[in-house]
Amino acid sequence: MEKFNPTLARLNKDPYPVYRQYRDSDPVHLGIPLYPEYPESWYLFRHEDVEAVLRSRLFINDRSKTSDDLPCTAATPPRKAFWEQVEKWLLLLDAPGHTRIRSQVSRSFTRQSAEQLIPFIQKTADDLLDRVIDRGEVDIVRDFAVPLPVAVIARLLGLRIRDPGELRAWSRSIANAMAPEATPKLYDEALEKTGDFTHYLQKAFREKRKKPGNDPVSSLLQAQDDGELDENELVSLCSMIIFAGQETTIDAIGNSLLALLQHPDQLEKLQSSPDLLPNAVEELLRYNSPVQIAMVRFPTEDVEIGGKQIRRGNGVTAILGSANHDPKRFENPERLDITRTIKSRDVIFGRGIHRCLGAHLARLELQIVLGTLLRRVKTIQLESDLLHWRKNIVFRGLTSLPVSFEAS
Ligand code: HEM
Repeated sequence: MEKFNPTLARLNKDPYPVYRQYRDSDPVHLGIPLYPEYPESWYLFRHEDVEAVLRSRLFINDRSKTSDDLPCTAATPPRKAFWEQVEKWLLLLDAPGHTRIRSQVSRSFTRQSAEQLIPFIQKTADDLLDRVIDRGEVDIVRDFAVPLPVAVIARLLGLRIRDPGELRAWSRSIANAMAPEATPKLYDEALEKTGDFTHYLQKAFREKRKKPGNDPVSSLLQAQDDGELDENELVSLCSMIIFAGQETTIDAIGNSLLALLQHPDQLEKLQSSPDLLPNAVEELLRYNSPVQIAMVRFPTEDVEIGGKQIRRGNGVTAILGSANHDPKRFENPERLDITRTIKSRDVIFGRGIHRCLGAHLARLELQIVLGTLLRRVKTIQLESDLLHWRKNIVFRGLTSLPVSFEAS
């Protein structure tokens, strides 16, 4: 069997048949590295292994603790500089630093905090639809999925965003640099954009200090003054939240609507029973997740998974997209069924200490966006069967999704 190649072109279009092949024949697989710094790269395709590794305290995300051969020193210059810029992001930290930093914002990401944003998300979704409703056609990615999450995350954090396009370009460029197919040019671009964004945030923090409010950024600035966070941790935390809040949700809106348009029976069912929305959103995220691959983990001691010996410091990559389609966990996994029961703590939003901070918010955004669209249109269809997927299996999404519709 060939080694699993995360840059395989057909993965972007439809990764699930490829995952199935490995899940059936070599579910704990030594493949082509996701990133060149980790030459010994294992891939996990089964739900049970993915879940176990994400929850295990034996695995950490900061490889420098398991080996003198630091990933950054092994990387080529633009790559090294890029990974150094993001080394304080939550997803790359371990306890106790991770616990200390995450606890500074976890209060702002509870279900109740997300629910307080419902009127704002609803108004934003309605305003965006008002702009295009008379046209009868829209690019869901450009006109809907891109502008909404950035507005919501800025509102939640208490930041005024003057130029959402700038933030979008920044976060897109980071996502490109995290793709296994990233080139030195993409690293250089991402570096420049992270630099710009750091300046942008520092300026926003200076303004906020002059006029603090009752919002998460004001609390974080207070925590910095109290010595609980340093400047780099503060910038990294906000950058990670803004990045994750945008990239994933943009792709989730596009991927979810596409799945519904490709399954007219499910679309019709949802239009006639909108109370199915919360359940449908969970199933749509399982069926076509925007986050296919978790951050690389490293065992702190030699371990055995599925009969394979994995050495301390080897890279272990959990393929969430494959776990979400594992027939041992989900009956008939290739079928989209918006009435399917999914446990609330599945791996769709990760597990363990790095489980998604924005899960409540993401679910609500999707429910409101899909609910608004389906309520305000009578019919909706794809404009073309030709779909353009980005070349990035870590964050999987469409570059555009043109649809035509008839307003209700
Ligand atoms: C449908 C949308 C989303 C999906 C599918 C998703 C999925 C995930 C997954 C799978 C992880 C864990 C990755 C790993 O363990 O390697 C994660 C972590 C994270 N997500 Fe999300 N996410 C979504 C939306 C959001 C939103 C809206 C935000 C913020 C507003 C957010 C913020 C974060 C943060 C900060 C982490 C890192 C947590 C930590 O390391 O402690 N995500 N997400």
